[in-house]
Amino acid sequence: MFYYYGRKKQVIRHYPAPNYDVIIEPFAGSAAYSLHGTNWKKRIILIEKDEKVCEIWKWLTEEATVDEIRRLPDLKVGERSSEFLHIIHAVTKMAFHFKTIKITPVLARNWEISKRIFASDLHKIKHWEIISGDYSESPDMEATWFIDPPYKGPSGMGYRHSSAKLNYDKLAEWTIKRKGEIIFCEGEYADYLPFRPLVEQKGVAGKISKEVIFYKTSVKNRNWKQLELFS
Ligand SMILES: C[S@@+](CC[C@H](N)C(=O)[O-])C[C@H]1O[C@@H](n2cnc3c(N)ncnc32)[C@H](O)[C@@H]1O
Repeated sequence: MFYYYGRKKQVIRHYPAPNYDVIIEPFAGSAAYSLHGTNWKKRIILIEKDEKVCEIWKWLTEEATVDEIRRLPDLKVGERSSEFLHIIHAVTKMAFHFKTIKITPVLARNWEISKRIFASDLHKIKHWEIISGDYSESPDMEATWFIDPPYKGPSGMGYRHSSAKLNYDKLAEWTIKRKGEIIFCEGEYADYLPFRPLVEQKGVAGKISKEVIFYKTSVKNRNWKQLELFS
């Protein structure tokens, strides 16, 4: 829904489509999976531990109106902002610790794009449920679980609740107990579940990042074109 370090928007089409009427994202961030295609029409439950990120979701789902969004000012290159919603549009892991940020041309452009998306997609998220807390506080129900934690290793550092604070063995134990369908995203240092390669993508400065997936479903006729990868 907004620019965010680690968001899945660019690779989201590579993940399986949801087979359940409920989608739960226990590490919500900007929730690219729930917004993808027609997924947003389902019952969507987001859990996020970073209170500032949760505040954005609560504002968007409970308060914001299209008029209000259209009135939000553009950002002027060279000026400074101390708004967290602006700061995360720098899309760098360091941004989570900045109190203020100098507006660059990239940040100003990202913000302009996000404002347009907020206005056009606001109606899609008004029924979404937001839980401020730890992933383990997710409701224990049958659902499509899109689990996208801070990745193990350096790329998961930087978030206010970073990879350094996560116990990955505990997360793996909790994950395999989820009912329904599990789509678990990780990167090159992932070793705590039977991950398979999914896709490689070129990031900023041409750096290749390897996406891996752990996928498990209780549905018999699984609806995913890439299933042969997993047989
Ligand atoms: C990789 S990002 C998720 C990106 C998201 N899929 C997207 O498309 O934008 C991981 C998120 O998990 C959050 N997080 C970290 N530890 C958490 C925890 N213990 N419980 C819930 N959320 C947590 C971080 O604040 C961050 O927003």
